Parts: sequence; C-alpha cells; structure tokens
Amino acid sequence: MRHIMVLNAKGGCGKSTLATNIASYFANEGATVALADYDPQRSSLDWLDRRPENRPTIHAVAGFEGGLRHCPRNADFVVIDAPARSHGKELTDLVRHAETILVPVLPSTIDMQATTVFLDELRNVGKIDRKQAKFGLVANRVRDNTLIFDDLDEYLTKARAPYIAALREAQNYVRAYTRGLGIFELPEYLAWPDWDEWEPLTAWLRSKRSQP
Ligand SMILES: Nc1ncnc2c1ncn2[C@@H]1O[C@H](COP(=O)(O)OP(=O)(O)OP(=O)(O)O)[C@@H](O)[C@H]1O
Ligand SMILES: [Mg+2]
Repeated sequence: MRHIMVLNAKGGCGKSTLATNIASYFANEGATVALADYDPQRSSLDWLDRRPENRPTIHAVAGFEGGLRHCPRNADFVVIDAPARSHGKELTDLVRHAETILVPVLPSTIDMQATTVFLDELRNVGKIDRKQAKFGLVANRVRDNTLIFDDLDEYLTKARAPYIAALREAQNYVRAYTRGLGIFELPEYLAWPDWDEWEPLTAWLRSKRSQP
C-alpha cells in the first residue's frame, strides 16, 4: 500500500486539486485507490460525491474524523489531501501516514515565502530527516512567459528538494473538479497539454525515486 500525501501549510496552493487528480489517475490505471481527506473543509470528499458512477471507483475516507481506520485494506494507493496550516505536532502526525509527499507551490511571492518557512519545518520532521519519507515540489497554476513564473522556476530549482513538475493554470482543473473527474478523464483534444505536464509527475510517483 502506497501513501501519497499532498501537503503545504499554505492555503489555496492546489493540494485538493492535485490529490483528486492523482487519485483518478491511479484509478484509471486499474489500481484500487482510496482518497483520504484530512481537511474538514472536505474538498476531496465533495469531489467524490460529484463523481459519476460509471468512472473507476475511488474509496472515500474521512481522515479528519477517523484517520485511516476506515481505509480499505486492499488499497494499492491511499492519496491523502492534507489541510492548510498544518504545523508542529499536527504536521508530525500527518507525515507519519505517508511515504511520499508532494508540495504544490503557486507563482506568488507570498506563497514562495510561506513555502520556505514550511519546507524548513518539514525537513525537521523526524520521518523526513531520517529519510523514511520523500518529498517533491510541484509548481501549480503557472503561466508561461510571466516574470513570476521565472521566479518560481528558479526558486524551485534551487530548493534542496526535487522539482518534479510545473502545471499550468487551466480551466480544465476547475471543470474536472465540478464534474467529479480528473483531467485524465477529460477529452484528449481539451486536456492533452495537461496530460503532457503530468507525465513527469506520474513517472516520479511510479518510480523508486519517490519512495524511501
Ligand atoms: N492548475 C490550476 N489551474 C486552475 N485553477 C486551479 C489550478 N489548481 C488549483 N486551482 C484552483 O485554485 C483553487 C485552490 O485550489 P485547491 O482547493 O486545490 O487548493 P488547496 O491547497 O486544497 O486549498 P486549501 O488550502 O483551502 O485546502 C481552487 O479554486 C482550484 O479550482
Ligand atoms: Mg484543499
């Protein structure tokens, strides 16, 4: 059972968007997938409520209530959507559940600044420090040919952690969420640019590089 967590103390950076898309990606690959929402805001569980019945099943786990107690034992992948503002003991407890952590970051000075503080805290969590969990960085909502994307690109390249992928700002993510789908479940003529951008991310998640 693989546990993949999407985590950043900064709010609104795309944790739920990444979590729902990762879950639908692996479900469409034929894996047994659970999506554990640790945020009482319930964005991932709301997305599952919207999910059409004819799409590959993803098991809902209300992590904010009972942790992973109700997670199906046969799950190949447990994708965990973490809440914003996770610090201190709460952060340590969350990280305990994951071997792989993805940290989305927006092209914004406020977000880069907040992420610097967060990454310092994350590196000091015992499990990360002992290399029992791996984390990687994802640029999210980027717009090509903007100065702030150049800044984010440089920031993530210099960060002492693997920079896995850059995902563009696209209405596809908003449309897909509304319909309970992932971008992999949208028509190819609409979503192919996003599929291309996800390739390094899914390759990393499937590889040993993302595992302790
Ligand atoms: N690549 C993207 N392109 C366009 N919109 C996006 C993208 N990623 C996220 N969004 C939108 O940005 C908003 C915040 O995303 P999301 O809810 O996934 O962030 P979050 O980190 O889970 O937020 P919170 O900290 O509140 O849980 C949402 O409206 C979402 O639809
Ligand atoms: Mg969220």
